[in-house]
Amino acid sequence: MEEQNVLLRMEGICKSFPGVKALDNAQLTVKAGTVHALMGENGAGKSTLMKCLFGIYSKDAGHIYLEGKEIEFKSSKEALDNGVAMVHQELNQALKRTVMDNLWLGRYPKVVKHLPLVSDKQSYADTLRVFNELGLKVNPRQVMSTMPVSQRQMVEIAKAVSFNSKIIVFDEPTSSLTETEVEHLFQIIDMLKKRGCGIVYISHKMEEILRISDEVTVMRDGQWVATRPAKELTMEEIIRLMVGRPLTNRFPPKSGNISDQDILRVEGLTAMYSHLKDASFTLKRGEILGVAGLDSSGRTELLENIFGNATRKSGKIYKDGHLVANKNPKDSIKNGFALLTEERRATGILGILNIRENTVISSLKKYKSGPLLSDKKMAEATSKMINAMHIKTPSQKTKISALSGGNQQKVIFGRWMLTSPDILLLDEPTRGIDVGAKYEIYELIQDLAKSGKSVVMVSSEMPELLGVCDRIIVMSGGRIAGEVDANNTSQEEIMTLAAKYA
Ligand SMILES: Nc1ncnc2c1ncn2[C@@H]1O[C@H](COP(=O)(O)OP(=O)(O)OP(=O)(O)O)[C@@H](O)[C@H]1O
Ligand SMILES: [Mg+2]
Repeated sequence: MEEQNVLLRMEGICKSFPGVKALDNAQLTVKAGTVHALMGENGAGKSTLMKCLFGIYSKDAGHIYLEGKEIEFKSSKEALDNGVAMVHQELNQALKRTVMDNLWLGRYPKVVKHLPLVSDKQSYADTLRVFNELGLKVNPRQVMSTMPVSQRQMVEIAKAVSFNSKIIVFDEPTSSLTETEVEHLFQIIDMLKKRGCGIVYISHKMEEILRISDEVTVMRDGQWVATRPAKELTMEEIIRLMVGRPLTNRFPPKSGNISDQDILRVEGLTAMYSHLKDASFTLKRGEILGVAGLDSSGRTELLENIFGNATRKSGKIYKDGHLVANKNPKDSIKNGFALLTEERRATGILGILNIRENTVISSLKKYKSGPLLSDKKMAEATSKMINAMHIKTPSQKTKISALSGGNQQKVIFGRWMLTSPDILLLDEPTRGIDVGAKYEIYELIQDLAKSGKSVVMVSSEMPELLGVCDRIIVMSGGRIAGEVDANNTSQEEIMTLAAKYA
C-alpha cells in the first residue's frame, strides 16, 4: 500500500554513461506538501536522477511511481503534461526573445486551434497573471538578453510554476539569485507547499537546506545514502553523510606569507556605467584580500573595472608601482591579472570542447614546443588540476558539457590557476561547489598566496571570507565603506559597514 501522501517514489534507479555509472540503485520518495532536499557532492548524481524523472534521460533500470501509478516519461513535454516541472541547473533560454515568448514557447495560446497563429494579447495577459500571482515585477515584453541573470532565473522559476505541476524540481535555483530574490523564491516555495505540491530542492548551501526543507536525502557516488527529517540533522551530520567521513576543518590554515611590498594599488576607481565610485585600496604580495558587501554594493563591478571588463570613468591602477592601463581583459592578462567571473556557466564554459582544451585554453604559451603545442605538457597540466580539485571525469578527453555542474566550475577555476597570474581576482569562487571540494579550492588559494601571488576575492558567504582572507574591504552603495582585519573582526562589524551607504 502506498503511504497516503506520497506523491513520487523512485526505486532502484540505475543510469550509466560511457565510463561512468552515474546512478546505482538510487531512490527518492517525496511527500505532498513538503520540501525534499537532495544533497551530495559534485557528481553524486543529483541532476541525473532528476533528469531521469523528467524524461531527459532514459533510466537503465528501476521504477518511478507518480501518485502510485508507474510512469516513464519519454520527453520533458510529457513530464510537464503529467504534472512534473523542473528548473534546471543550467539556464537554457531563448535570449533574443521576450520574457513572454520564453514563458509560453511550445504551448502558446493559439488564436485558432490547430493553426500556428499566436494570440499576442492572450499570452501577454497570461504572463501578467502568472507574474502577479507570484508577485514578480517583470515586463513580459522585455527581451531576455537585456535582463540580469538573476531576473532570467526568476522568469525560469515562474515558468516552472506556471504549469501547475504536482512535483517541481529546483536544481540549484539560487546560485545566481540576489538575496532579495532568494527570499522571494522561498515565499513561492511556501505557497507551493500549501497547495500540496512536492518540491525537490537541490543546493550546496547548507543554511538554505536547513531552513526550508522538511526531509533530506543524501546521495554519494550515484547511490542512496540516507533519508532523514531535516530537523534531526545538523550541518556536520549532512557533511558526514555526503563526504563519507567527518570533515574536521572547513578551512585550511592561512598562508600568512604577506610581504610588506604593495603589488597592487587602486586609486579612485570610478565606473562609467555603474555606481562604483572612488574605490581605493592596496594589496600586498602574498595577501588574500576579501571583498564583502550586500547585493549590488559594487563588488563585481570593482573586479570587472580592475580587469578592464567594464569601462572606467576615472581612476588609476598601479602594479608594482607602475601605472597599468588594463584597458581590456587581454591587456590585463598580459599585465599578470586573471579574473574568475561570477557567471562562469554563461561566460566561461566552451561546451563543445573537452576538459583538456577547456583547461589549457588561456595558458597555451606554456605548452609550446617549437612551433607546435606539446600534447604531453597540456596533458600534464590538466591532470595536475584534475587531481588537485578531484574533478570527477572518466578522462581529459571528455566533453566539458558531460560533467556535473560543480565539476565544470572546477575546470574553469583550473584554467585561471594555470595562467599563473600575479594577481588573481575571484568572484564567488566556490559557488555551486560542494563542501569537500570547497576545501580543496581554499587550499589552492592559500598555496598561491604562499608562493607570493596575491588574491582579491569577492564572496557573499561571510564565514568563507573570514576563514580564507587576511584582510577584508567592505563595499556599500558602490563605495568602499571600510576595511577590517579578517583575523580580528566579527560578522556584526562587517554588516554594519555594509549598511553604511546602502
Ligand atoms: N550527459 C552526460 N554524459 C556523460 N556523463 C554524464 C552526463 N551527465 C552526467 N554525467 C556524469 O554523471 C555523474 C553524475 O552527474 P550529475 O550531473 O548528476 O551530478 P550532480 O550530483 O548533479 O553534481 P553537481 O552538484 O556538480 O551538479 C557525473 O560523473 C557526470 O560526469
Ligand atoms: Mg547537478
